[in-house]
Amino acid sequence: MRRVTHIIPTHTVLEGGGFKVRRPVAMGRLMSPFLLLDEMGPANYAPGEAMGAPWHPHRGFETVTYMLAGKMQHEDSAGNKGNLNPGDVQWMTAGRGIIHSEEPHADFQKNGGLMHGFQIWINLPAKHKMMQPRYQEIPADKSPITEKNGVWVRVIAGECLGLKSSIDTMVPIEYIHAKMDKNLLLEKEIESSLNAMIYIFGGEISVENKIIKDGELALLSEGKRITIQSNEPSEFLILAGPELNEPIARHGPFVMNTREEIHQAFLDYQNGTFVN
Ligand code: CO
Repeated sequence: MRRVTHIIPTHTVLEGGGFKVRRPVAMGRLMSPFLLLDEMGPANYAPGEAMGAPWHPHRGFETVTYMLAGKMQHEDSAGNKGNLNPGDVQWMTAGRGIIHSEEPHADFQKNGGLMHGFQIWINLPAKHKMMQPRYQEIPADKSPITEKNGVWVRVIAGECLGLKSSIDTMVPIEYIHAKMDKNLLLEKEIESSLNAMIYIFGGEISVENKIIKDGELALLSEGKRITIQSNEPSEFLILAGPELNEPIARHGPFVMNTREEIHQAFLDYQNGTFVN
């Protein structure tokens, strides 16, 4: 059985053009292969006030955006363009380089409303860091969902309650969104070689008698399975992935293995040779 080894609190920071995110403290080097976990909002925007992240580059990792409320529009240097609605997932493998903008949709910007979602950053192993960028979009009605006896689960990546995601991940990630009514149990097997964690953003749960509260990230020990008990109506993410065991050199939107590679990323960006 996996149990809780660390509880990490979140703090609120401003990102991009100034939108609020809840972010577990010191997420930088905590649990391979995850580099970042941002809960965007929930924020209620007045008409004209919604904010996003204007054009910026990424190299060496993947960004996965999952919308719960609101509407975003994205555009990138490779010519991809699309919208993200509640339940939609955008899995972007930056690889050797992408420059993109992630903004509230024009309609949402005009009318305002509730914005809520997640962005996680997943590291790429050295051999894939300079791969061609790619996008995978999983619309809400294409991701496996089940609801049974007060337990609701969406499988964004990996497997849960017999459901399997069709997403093609560069590293074997598990990414599950779950909602539970009070006093229920959810059991999930996780390959014992993977690191695993739970981020809770509503209610309170227990894992092997250790309580995890709203806004906390729980890192889990090794083991073959987790059993989650809901002490209240609760909502959380389960994330798991392999230990990459490679050096990390990180600066802003670039995550490489060496300082030289980071330097090269800056040079490429300045020289206009970042994407081609
Ligand atoms: Co970005």
